[in-house]
Amino acid sequence: MTPPPDIVRSAYVDLVVTDLERARDWWVGLLGFHVQAEEPDALYLRGFEEFVHHSVVLRTGPAPACARIGFRVRTADDLDRAERFYAERGCPVKRMPAGTTLGLGETVRTVDPLGFPIELVHQMERVEPLVQRYELRSGASINRLDHVNIATPNVPVAYHLYDDLGFGLSETIEDTKTGTLYAAWMFRKQTVHDMAFTLGTGPMLHHIAFAVPESHNILGLCDVIGSRNLAKYIERGPGRHGVSNAFYLYLRDDDGHRVEIYTTDYFTGDPDHEPIRWDVHDERRRDFWANPIVPTWYQGSVGVLDLDGNTIPTRDQEEATTEKEAAGPRVKVGADGLGIIVED
Ligand SMILES: [Fe+2]
Repeated sequence: MTPPPDIVRSAYVDLVVTDLERARDWWVGLLGFHVQAEEPDALYLRGFEEFVHHSVVLRTGPAPACARIGFRVRTADDLDRAERFYAERGCPVKRMPAGTTLGLGETVRTVDPLGFPIELVHQMERVEPLVQRYELRSGASINRLDHVNIATPNVPVAYHLYDDLGFGLSETIEDTKTGTLYAAWMFRKQTVHDMAFTLGTGPMLHHIAFAVPESHNILGLCDVIGSRNLAKYIERGPGRHGVSNAFYLYLRDDDGHRVEIYTTDYFTGDPDHEPIRWDVHDERRRDFWANPIVPTWYQGSVGVLDLDGNTIPTRDQEEATTEKEAAGPRVKVGADGLGIIVED
């Protein structure tokens, strides 16, 4: 088998929105993203700690969707490795010339074995650093894309795919009595995660998360939302996660795209880093203060598109995994996320 591409980090998402001006009001006017570029049907956004063209593309379309999840790879040769890696797994692969998306060099697009549209890129246009342009910051003072959380009907398959891609495992939710693993957080950059897997109807995008400097940026955003009487956009939080230790807030835009505002997770770069394993019955795993999780958080996700822009059909979550799908002696993954926990 081909060695995997050397993925540096999760780098961007390409989202379909139904009303671009309404989306601009929310993403830019409320959350405070920087507009790097715009076209009649698209906005290219980034945070203030991002030195390349964008981490979010909002593109007008008929229905909300996630068109692509982008990974940045270390070298141009990694695009060749990516092409072979996914082709060997029976995935459709398309090589896209530089400039197909504003700010991006040549890319490899695929629909991965989980059914998600993935794009890998090496060259991204460098742009003016804005880290210390404090006068431009507003909203939540968005720094950068941190991670993508996907809903998939079989988490073990997701775990093994990303293990094959060289992702590290930072935290799990599992049943410590049976050894069944219910959810996994996996990373390439040296934070808690670039990707997380939530069991549920999929393939669907559960949420994308953006790092902000400090917890007070999240509290400040909540106050502004309250002052503007826009609390309908707050779905969950603010709170402290058990998994990842992050301080968080979940919002949903007018199209249902779920955005997590996220800060204060931790470094995972030491080579002897050991995963932290949460018991599935520990109510602090999702919220460290054991606040109940609102049902909508477990229910709503956004569909994903294939290489031709068509919605990929979804499958419902599987209550039990077959031995074949859960193959691998290291770990078995079941359901926490969107799943129902069954006591044994
Ligand atoms: Fe998250």
